[in-house]
Amino acid sequence: SEISAMDVAAASPPPMMLTQDELKRIAAYKAVEFVESGMVLGLGTGSTAKHAVDRIGELLRQGKLENIVGIPTSKKTQEQALSVGIPLSDLDAHPVIDLSIDGADEVDPYLNLVKGRGGSLLREKMIEGASKKFVVIVDESKMVKHIGGSKLALPVEIVPFCWRFTAEKLRELMEGYGCEANLRLGERGKPFVTDNGNYIVDMHLEKDMGDLRAVSDAILRIAGVVEHGMFLDMASTVIVAGEFGVKIKNK
Ligand code: 5RP
Repeated sequence: SEISAMDVAAASPPPMMLTQDELKRIAAYKAVEFVESGMVLGLGTGSTAKHAVDRIGELLRQGKLENIVGIPTSKKTQEQALSVGIPLSDLDAHPVIDLSIDGADEVDPYLNLVKGRGGSLLREKMIEGASKKFVVIVDESKMVKHIGGSKLALPVEIVPFCWRFTAEKLRELMEGYGCEANLRLGERGKPFVTDNGNYIVDMHLEKDMGDLRAVSDAILRIAGVVEHGMFLDMASTVIVAGEFGVKIKNK
């Protein structure tokens, strides 16, 4: 569905000449303004979400927030959240989350996302899908016309069992989009392993995917695929920080 409202909040002072990391921090801090005491929070993963986790910890220590329960989307975020003093739980104990805050690799004008460059897409999709509100925080470099078909790859989490078979099925499915499907490598050239013990195939596409929902369904029908990094119709708000200031786009 189309974006129904766009608020433009002027950041003061305008973030001219700021680094990408400073823009990420500005977006993250803005998102944390949505956090209220007593909330169950989905805690995202990545260099942008890290700023939000730090900020929530800081507000807890200052007594400006109370009774927060964090649900981390990765082992890395779990460690960071504990180190800044956020009490943690999980989806089994809290199947409904008040608010999730996370970064993204790409955001289109309809607030569809590609996520998973950090490899945490499965837990992110479970937790953010269980959230009443999902606020995405990005710097302006993440805004694209079409997700998946532009600069970055679409990540797909697959089981390690006969991963070449699954990667080939993915490549065949996406052949019409000029697809290259590469196993993501981690340390010492070994396959990158997700928190769930799975592998990731990065699908580099030359063309945009058109009907995203149809492509999503087709990918998920391949046995061996666990989840993919397209987050369709999930974000309620996207906070974009750029040279213009901060834009808040609401679904
Ligand atoms: C991790 C993700 C991240 O949110 C995404 O990769 C953005 O990361 P960063 O904030 O470091 O640019 O989806 O799986």
